[in-house]
Amino acid sequence: MSPATVFERIGALRSWLEAHRVAGRRIGLVPTMGYLHAGHASLIRRARQECDIVVVSVFVNPTQFGPGEDYDRYPRDLEHDQALCEAEGADAIFAPPVVEMYPTGAPCTRVTVARVSEGLCGRSRPHHFAGVATVVTKLLNIVQPHRAYFGEKDYQQLAVIRTMVADLNLPVDIVGCPTVRESDGLAMSSRNSYLSPELRARAPAIYRALCAGRDAAQAGERSAGAIAARVKAALEPVPDAAVEYVEVVDAESLAPLQEVGGGAVIAVAVRLGGTRLIDNIAIKPVP
Ligand code: PAF
Repeated sequence: MSPATVFERIGALRSWLEAHRVAGRRIGLVPTMGYLHAGHASLIRRARQECDIVVVSVFVNPTQFGPGEDYDRYPRDLEHDQALCEAEGADAIFAPPVVEMYPTGAPCTRVTVARVSEGLCGRSRPHHFAGVATVVTKLLNIVQPHRAYFGEKDYQQLAVIRTMVADLNLPVDIVGCPTVRESDGLAMSSRNSYLSPELRARAPAIYRALCAGRDAAQAGERSAGAIAARVKAALEPVPDAAVEYVEVVDAESLAPLQEVGGGAVIAVAVRLGGTRLIDNIAIKPVP
């Protein structure tokens, strides 16, 4: 286990990276908001396999939280994050204070990605993806990685970032990595730490409901409405679970579908008690 250098300043990180770039090393970036778990570890491991230098950013980005959301109470533990980064072989951690990223407060320039940001989570969190796209653009510009790694658990975020990178010709390969799940199926998320033991015990129902939808599609159900109804029906009996959306969308454009046939994804957002959880599952194209 080798130590990972922690950088708080953009200038210091850039000088350190420049030496590696000049030496021809391939740089991988794993952007995170910290409170790292096994899902993040899988991203770091993949970056470690594919790149010479691995940078993990740890920054709870205020501009992607709406009013009344959990910015203040979002869990933070840099010591734990550092230990996980070191165990997975990351070379550097970029953990800037807010003022380093936003020295003048809210930035005048924002990156908004139309269409793909607008449905699903974008409906209840109208400014969220502009906050994500803006901070990811900044991180890509600061680190200038060859590759950047994101989890498929945040499926819409990954689609927004892929669209942004393609539209703006950003010179980076975006690598999407499979969702890592607890043994009972719950998708790993830093926000799972908000769940009481009772709610935590109910949370795997979300993945089971998605599996029921996927299985219906695999058994030949083509109607997106019927597949979504299966998922909703499986969630209905769960106490304290309020479904925000269940949608069957095109795997790339995220456009809502009437019928499945090509690559599709079932995406859900559920409030369990006060905690908003998201998850998704792929439906394979009909051969
Ligand atoms: O997925 C996250 O943790 C964040 O949205 C990201 C991509 C690090 C941007 O703040």
